Amino acid sequence: MKITSAVFNKSASDLASCPRASLPEFAFIGRSNVGKSSLINMLTLRKDLAKVSGTPGKTKLINFFTINGAWSLVDLPGYGYAKVRKGEQLGFNKSAAEYLEKREGLTQVFVLIDSRYEVMPIDLEFIAWVRDFEAPYALIFTKTDKVSRTVWEENIEVFKENLAANEIEIPKILASSSTQRKGRGEILSYIQSLLAKKAGAKKKTTVSLGWMKKK
Ligand code: GTP
Ligand code: MG
Repeated sequence: MKITSAVFNKSASDLASCPRASLPEFAFIGRSNVGKSSLINMLTLRKDLAKVSGTPGKTKLINFFTINGAWSLVDLPGYGYAKVRKGEQLGFNKSAAEYLEKREGLTQVFVLIDSRYEVMPIDLEFIAWVRDFEAPYALIFTKTDKVSRTVWEENIEVFKENLAANEIEIPKILASSSTQRKGRGEILSYIQSLLAKKAGAKKKTTVSLGWMKKK
């Protein structure tokens, strides 16, 4: 898929202040510093669209970007950041949780996992939580340039074993490196296939409603 335009739309501090859910949305979540904002920049080929920082906890608001005027990428605040404010549980931002649980138009959640490390309990806990409210999600293993292929592939295998051991179905799994632009084609193709599916589903619903109205 070609990215012809990528523009910042809005930053929201909570679900109520999010823009109207008029476009299909793809949200990026994961531990602080895992590379969510960098991945959004890499996918859109825009260097500074989403703010990147070496200090964890950079993204504090829910940021919406409109792509090709047709769909949205959403950059969410990460979880697992130690310096949490009062009221934020386990470093998990309340507004991000509310967004993930209730947002209309949320087509897919991409849970980002740092491919350098062996499975972390916080990522598994988070996935179990997402699975429980039945949000469609996929995993993206980030920063694959930082370790050898053998290491990150092994980490993905161990992660899958842990999902299975916790009776969590293995979702779609992708890998990326924002510095090497690895995974860009595959992630965009996957998004495109979900957009096509959604458009197809919409069409079917319209046809059957028209038929029902006639009766
Ligand atoms: P928060 O907004 O703080 O939750 O972080 P984030 O998940 O948005 O991470 P961000 O994109 O800001 O990246 C964090 C750090 O990791 C930055 O220093 C990035 O340059 C670096 N980084 C992100 N992705 C990659 C990658 O694929 N490879 C390498 N080598 N570094 C990366
Ligand atoms: Mg960020």
